[in-house]
Amino acid sequence: MLPARSEGLFVTLEGGEGAGKSTQLKALANRARVLGIETVTSREPGGTPLGESLRNILLNANDSEVDHRAELLVFAASRAQHLAELVRPALERGALVICDRFSDSTIAYQQYGRGLDPDIVATSIELATDGLKPDLTILLDVESHVSRERTTLSDDYLERAGIEFHERVHAGFVSLAASDPDRWIVIDGAIAPDEITELAWNQISKYLDQAT
Ligand code: TMP
Repeated sequence: MLPARSEGLFVTLEGGEGAGKSTQLKALANRARVLGIETVTSREPGGTPLGESLRNILLNANDSEVDHRAELLVFAASRAQHLAELVRPALERGALVICDRFSDSTIAYQQYGRGLDPDIVATSIELATDGLKPDLTILLDVESHVSRERTTLSDDYLERAGIEFHERVHAGFVSLAASDPDRWIVIDGAIAPDEITELAWNQISKYLDQAT
């Protein structure tokens, strides 16, 4: 178990499509669980029944029919429910929460990718999170053309957005990571998955050690 503390540890994984986040989510959770640490894994959009329904509706939409502000608000709605139902209660129990995507994806995709006004994006995030930020964010960094090669034609409408869109998203993640190096670590998503797990786990361990 994590040592007794009022708040757990909130870790998020970020990156473009096909960066290997879900593989790392499982591997990192396994590392924590064998040490007896209560670990909750989740994803956005999704993570709750309402969030998963919103995910299905949004990601199965036709490319042309989703207004960009509507898209922003669906991610925000999923996030608000996710925090209320799953993330905050887990952190209050002192658990380790590892989440595949969080608010930084909204900044990368809706602000940098779609070009929505930064103030509007920030307001939607504040509304959904009430200021909750991850303790640690791991960027699995892959170039946009590698992401494209790793995803398939049947992927969701955001994955089918053009290469320029995904290049702007990538630039967004890189810029977010550079602007807050205390919270972010950047790992080359092209290296072997085991090596990625090792590097990421080393960082998570430092935070767990600080709590003792
Ligand atoms: P995933 O397939 O990596 O789980 O992510 C679902 C898609 O949703 C992916 O294309 C990224 C996108 N997304 C946003 O555009 N904004 C967000 O806030 C989140 C959480 C995801």
